[in-house]
Amino acid sequence: MPFTRINDFDRRLSPSLSAIVRLAGARAQQLGFRLYLVGGIVRDLLLGRSNLDIDLTVEGDALALAQSLAHNTDARLTSHRHFGTARLKYPGFILDMAMARKEMYPHPGALPTVRSGGIKEDLFRRDFTVNAMAVSLNPDSYGALIDPYGGKSDLEAGAIRVLHPGSFIDDATRIWRAIRYEQRLGFHIERTTLRQLRRSLAMLDTISADRLRREFERALDEETPDKVLRRAWRLGVLQKLHPSLRADRWLSTKYRLARNTAVPPLLRTIYTALLVSRLNPGECEAFLSRLNFPSHTARIVRDTVRLRQLSIELRAPRLKPSRIYKLVNDYDGVAVNIAALATNSSTERNRLRLYLDRLRHIQVSLGGRDLQMLGVPAGPPVGLVLRKLLTARLDGKLKSRKDEEDFVRRYFAKLTP
Ligand code: CTP
Repeated sequence: MPFTRINDFDRRLSPSLSAIVRLAGARAQQLGFRLYLVGGIVRDLLLGRSNLDIDLTVEGDALALAQSLAHNTDARLTSHRHFGTARLKYPGFILDMAMARKEMYPHPGALPTVRSGGIKEDLFRRDFTVNAMAVSLNPDSYGALIDPYGGKSDLEAGAIRVLHPGSFIDDATRIWRAIRYEQRLGFHIERTTLRQLRRSLAMLDTISADRLRREFERALDEETPDKVLRRAWRLGVLQKLHPSLRADRWLSTKYRLARNTAVPPLLRTIYTALLVSRLNPGECEAFLSRLNFPSHTARIVRDTVRLRQLSIELRAPRLKPSRIYKLVNDYDGVAVNIAALATNSSTERNRLRLYLDRLRHIQVSLGGRDLQMLGVPAGPPVGLVLRKLLTARLDGKLKSRKDEEDFVRRYFAKLTP
């Protein structure tokens, strides 16, 4: 196994993290275990990128090591005995600890079965060479890079390369992962890997809705998800979510606008709705169920698509405010915002904004009781008059409670001979 020490390994970690991993390495040595930093954090350390997800692999009993560390430090420990994993929460970062393991895929798309193994086997089960490096933390070899599959040279070449030809077949979510890393890091998917990726597209159909949705959401969590989606579209990967999806220049423009205006917790939903907004309602339903979206997100996406179907009406000349209100009011407010972002028509956008900023807040001053006092019979007529009042209010014909009372009186005077 090639062994090189990482230059300035300690200085690449924050002082508090380096103190903890040194301590963890020393403790592992005392217990007769070997401890490694693995996966994305090693890749990012070598690239000089920050990463607060710290994965540790133990050749030995991960739970025993985690318990021993929790005992002496101010970490909070949670462990999953069944999986042999433990999480230590420190102020400012989290350490995830797992035993070194070997994985077997019983059939494509299934979750792997797991046995304990050595670090080399643990690295071999991983997706790409750049993610298949480890750094030894035991004091006798502290900072040594373990790189059996050429991860460092691929990192230097900017290449995303699988470790073996069956990688995408074992786990087709790696297709999305390859694109995500490529676009995030400004790398390229290496030629043979790209050929294997293209050949494995059908394997995406073996992935469960929930796993596929998680990968899709991780793509949306990237800084510029439109880049990821665009590459996925060009490779035919996006179309595996629904054949009518497109990630073109229009989408990038809209995503940029969304990033500049929306708050992060909503961004994922907004990105999803914008992507789906050019599908028809039937296609939208197929997409939502393929990825099994939670009902709240599904509602917003569905409403955005339906609102887009109203586009022609919302652009019509001389549309009364009450008509805008009627067209839009049954839809989720977030969806109305997204529809305003999605349209290229300023008329439509202004009308949707008018609804959001003004119309939806307008209320009738009189209540059911007031109407009865004015002589409106109880039952359906009350609802009818309230709707008439709201319409007149929305269209600016009534300004005050007094106007409303006069309106009701006039309305009934007309009805009674
Ligand atoms: N991994 C894998 N195949 C997958 C998912 C994960 O081989 N389908 C491996 C990769 O080696 C990865 C590690 O598990 O580095 C941890 O997974 P994850 O947290 O998803 O990867 P990170 O590299 O930490 O991703 P990110 O930088 O996006 O957080």
